[in-house]
Amino acid sequence: MSETILQLDGVSRSFGGLMAVGDVSFSVQAGEIFGLIGPNGAGKTTLFNLVSGITPVSAGRIGFLGRDILGLAPHKVAGMGMARTFQNIRLFAGMSVLDNVRAPMQAFSRTGFFSDLLGLPASRAQEAQIMATAMDLLNLVGLGAKARAAASSLPYGERRRLEIARALALRPKLLLLDEPAAGLNLAEKAELSDFIRDLRSRFDLTVLIIEHHVPLVMGLCDRLAVLNFGRLICQGRPEEVRCDKSVIDAYLGDSHAAPRT
Ligand SMILES: Nc1ncnc2c1ncn2[C@@H]1O[C@H](COP(=O)(O)OP(=O)(O)OP(=O)(O)O)[C@@H](O)[C@H]1O
Ligand SMILES: [Mg+2]
Repeated sequence: MSETILQLDGVSRSFGGLMAVGDVSFSVQAGEIFGLIGPNGAGKTTLFNLVSGITPVSAGRIGFLGRDILGLAPHKVAGMGMARTFQNIRLFAGMSVLDNVRAPMQAFSRTGFFSDLLGLPASRAQEAQIMATAMDLLNLVGLGAKARAAASSLPYGERRRLEIARALALRPKLLLLDEPAAGLNLAEKAELSDFIRDLRSRFDLTVLIIEHHVPLVMGLCDRLAVLNFGRLICQGRPEEVRCDKSVIDAYLGDSHAAPRT
């Protein structure tokens, strides 16, 4: 029997008169790759913001690892083991590739301000550990050779991978990926599926992924939820979702083509 890692019950969020997310309920099991799809403006990113604590819900409950996380600050939620990437990549552009991965680890490390200031041994040992882990992560995403380069100098596909490495630096149990394939070329998109599956097994991760590229989500995800105008219109295994009439009408179209790539 698998364990529920994320549980949404009747989650809603309005902006003024607009219901961006309306009464959404679903659960994600530990170890799953769970896809969230839907047309532009369907509420997918808003849902990520609600789950990660960036945006407060208007109604409903969100449980993570069996705990009610409503009202928790984003860094508290992150500290419980949830990390994310952003639709519009957010990196520290002025920092090196390596420092982009080290910074969140330093922020969450246990030694205090004064031991850091004085360079005490525990802190130095910890810094060495952070450096080694950051380099391992960069090697894993194929950016080891660019560790000293400025993050702003990376081409787009590499920035996406750096953002994933930075999220992994927090040792998450649940990784939220908001359109990780956006802007990637076809070859990079094809590699991304294998890469995400590899991450899942290597880090024992659960993945919640927003993605427009239908072949990618259909091939990658164990289950999917489909949003349309903020409402959950269908959920199930990819083959079930693909055949659902409301999904075809709202999103996939007759050819099952993506609305954009
Ligand atoms: N902070 C906000 N203030 C007001 N309206 C917002 C805000 N954030 C999102 N919205 C609105 O909520 C709706 C859902 O937006 P959201 O970004 O969640 O959609 P999405 O499914 O991620 O779309 P896309 O596929 O284009 O990324 C949109 O109509 C959007 O304009
Ligand atoms: Mg979005």
